Parts: sequence; C-alpha cells; structure tokens
Amino acid sequence: MQESIGLRLGSLTLDVPFFQASLSGYSDYTMRSFARRFGCPFALADVMLAKSMAEPRVLRKACFRPGIDEHPVGAQIMGESPAIMAKAARDLVAVGYDVIDLNFACPVPKVLRRGRGGALLARPKTVIDIVRMVRETVACPLLVKLRIGIDHDSASQDDFWEIVTRSIEEGIDALVIHGRTVEQRYRGKADWDTLASVKARFPSATIIGSGDVFDPQAAFERMRQTGLDGFVVARGAIGNPWIFRELRCVWENRPIPPPPDLAEQRAIMLEHFHRVLNGYPEKRAIGYFRKFIVRYARLHPSRKQVTTTLMKAESRAAVEAGIHALYGAGETH
Ligand SMILES: Cc1cc2nc3c(=O)[nH]c(=O)nc-3n(C[C@H](O)[C@H](O)[C@H](O)COP(=O)(O)O)c2cc1C
Repeated sequence: MQESIGLRLGSLTLDVPFFQASLSGYSDYTMRSFARRFGCPFALADVMLAKSMAEPRVLRKACFRPGIDEHPVGAQIMGESPAIMAKAARDLVAVGYDVIDLNFACPVPKVLRRGRGGALLARPKTVIDIVRMVRETVACPLLVKLRIGIDHDSASQDDFWEIVTRSIEEGIDALVIHGRTVEQRYRGKADWDTLASVKARFPSATIIGSGDVFDPQAAFERMRQTGLDGFVVARGAIGNPWIFRELRCVWENRPIPPPPDLAEQRAIMLEHFHRVLNGYPEKRAIGYFRKFIVRYARLHPSRKQVTTTLMKAESRAAVEAGIHALYGAGETH
C-alpha cells in the first residue's frame, strides 16, 4: 500500500492520502492537534462565514493560534458572493492559513435558506464565479467541497457535473466530494460509485472522497476500488483521534495497533477537557465538552454508563471524578 507520496494538494504534499475534514462545532485547534499527534498530516478548521471575515475582531479570532505552530492548516469558507469569498480567502491566507477550501456542501436549513453552502449546487454559474475569483486571488492550494447534488433529480445531476467540470477547468487543486445529496443530509450510505465516476471522467484531477470513513481497512479498500486519490475523515475522528494512527499503519503496511486502553483514553479525555476549560468559562466548557464525551464513550466497554454518568456532571470536579472512576485512576494531565 505504501507509496512515496500520499496526496498532492497543489503545492502541498501529504505523506498519507487522508486528512481531517472540516467539522463545524468540533474541528477546533484542540481536535486538530490531537489528529496531528496521532498521525494526521493536515486538518481543516471549522467553516467560517466569508462576510464575517470583514470584521477585524472576527478575523483575529479566526487566526487559529498565532505563535503556535500548526501547519499545514486549512480554512474553509462559505458565502454566496464571489468578491466577498475572494476577500475572505485573501485575508485568511494573510493571517497564516495554508489552504483554502470553499464550502458548497453544508445542508443545514438556515444556511440553505440564505442561499449558501449546499444551496449553491443549484447555481453552477455562481459557484464558478466564486471559484474563479478566489483562484485569481490566492496562490495557495484551493479545494472545493461539494456534495453529489441537491437531490437525485436529473437537473441536479447536470448541475453537479457542470460544477465538477468547470471547477477543474478553473484550476482548483482538489475536489472533496461527500457522497450524499444535500437533501439526504447524513441519511443512507455514502455513494462512492458516483465518486468513482468523477475520477474516471477526470483521471488527472485530484478527487478526494468523503462519507462513512470509520474503518481504516475499509477506507483504503474503497479508495483502491474507486481509484480516488484520497479521503477525508470526519465523524470517524470525533472522540477517536486514534483512527489516524490506525490509518497510518494500514498505509505503511504495519499491523494495526490494538485500540487505546482505558488509561490512554482517560489521558486524552482529561487533556481535551482541560484544554476546553482554558478557552471557556466552566459551565460553557462542560456544555461544549459533552459533545465529545458521547463520542469518546464509544470506545469504552460500558458506553452507556459513561454517557449517563458524565452527561450529568455539572462541574469541573464532577467531570474529572467521573472520568477517573470510569476509566480508572492514574496520572492526570
Ligand atoms: C457535526 C458535523 C459538522 C460538519 N461540518 C462541516 C463543515 O463545517 N464543513 C464541511 O465541509 N463539512 C462538514 N461536515 C461534513 C463532513 O466533513 C463530512 O463530509 C461528512 O460528515 C461525511 O463524512 P463521514 O460520513 O465520514 O462523517 C460536518 C459533518 C458533521 C457530522
């Protein structure tokens, strides 16, 4: 399986053919740094609204961690105006992002109502105007994230193929395609056959698949079957940064290590919680961390007990005590 180059995103070369996807509300600096620690070479930050980047305060906040080395890191932007998207891309590159990713995939109703994200899949001309203007503005690797259409109707399929064809013609560095329609949201299985047909039609373009990447062996098997250049890990990485260690082993033809034991899970959970506490007041930190608890719990043999105990914890001390009780006591971080 091992090859010298994993994935080429324009001028950026990764040594493995996978990276961590943009995950709104999750893929913050902490989640990205855990991914990196376990072998992920590159990650995208949460999606940002392009027009908000015009406010210096918001742009400063988007500045991932000035002074802390997190490269390469990608910014994903969403918006419907080519000029505003191009300006946001330029500003985000200026504050240090290495890669720009354009979101034409988000299925959230509020986003769709405003004509952004996945809604733009019905407006190929606007998509291409955005792609062209951003491409003319930034020289860094440029990715386009999309789904396989608004729905399965033939008009939507025509729009999808037009966007794919013309984005490639405009010189983007890779397409990242989630194998579901906007209307499907996260229902059903991702359709990797359509992704394979994109690669078959554009063999020299870099096509990266997204959808249901949970099992390392299966992910590479799918990549081989479809001929795609790589894949992104999304839900499979929430509460499971160890997936990157496993993926790397498969890629390098090494045996997959056993899943993390309770002590290793405990150490990461505590470190994660403490990092969240550094960024938010206690109550908010606990609320935010709960989203991760339910995911971390999946690796615990008593998943239900972990969620019921830790979701009830309402103070820092109670969360810590719960983690120690459920995952065994030991050295803390
Ligand atoms: C909670 C959540 C937030 C997401 N946020 C984004 C986002 O901001 N930008 C994006 O392009 N995709 C986003 N996605 C989609 C994922 O990147 C990915 O394409 C999708 O989940 C399919 O992959 P999976 O089945 O392996 O999770 C999100 C998905 C989830 C579950």
